[in-house]
Amino acid sequence: MAILKVARMGHPVLNRTADAVEDPTAPEIHRLIADMVDTMADAPGVGLAAPQVHVPKRLVIFHIPESGANNEEDENGNEAEEAVPMTVLINPEIEALGEERVTGIEGCLSLPDMVGMVPRFRHIRYKALAPDGSVIEREASGYHARVVQHECDHLDGILYPMRMEDLSTLGYTDEMNRNELPLGARMRKKKLETEQETEVGDDG
Ligand code: NI
Repeated sequence: MAILKVARMGHPVLNRTADAVEDPTAPEIHRLIADMVDTMADAPGVGLAAPQVHVPKRLVIFHIPESGANNEEDENGNEAEEAVPMTVLINPEIEALGEERVTGIEGCLSLPDMVGMVPRFRHIRYKALAPDGSVIEREASGYHARVVQHECDHLDGILYPMRMEDLSTLGYTDEMNRNELPLGARMRKKKLETEQETEVGDDG
């Protein structure tokens, strides 16, 4: 096992469509997974896609720690979420369940020290192979759905700024924390404004 170098935005491996994994049970795939788990833990991060460690294959890992699970709980306390244990998705496919999107904060190990507000589908279903070759099929919402969409985007050469609708919310984490409102409050304020605008737009 080893800690791998993480590719940063600008490296071509992050811009290409990754190739399907032919055999999820192959020893080299299991070695890659073990190294990715080490790399993600070291960073630390909640998710990592194989292209981020310079391997253009359709494989991602993620987990939702207890502390990250409630990030998108709404003002009524709905959608408090459960942690998700370390999960490996090989050749994943995502299907949106409904059109509803929610805008939330994202960061990426390939854009160190930056964050931005990104719209994602609120509810998804995803299907993938596990490292033992079995099929994983789950429905996810909120933060869990966000992480899976972010990681799987890496397999199609998409980084989160390419999904952003308002690039004024993209910035360095420490700068954003230093300014008039702490990042969390700023983002929540922005989110409210965005939701109001969206409502107006939908009604019109
Ligand atoms: Ni990322």
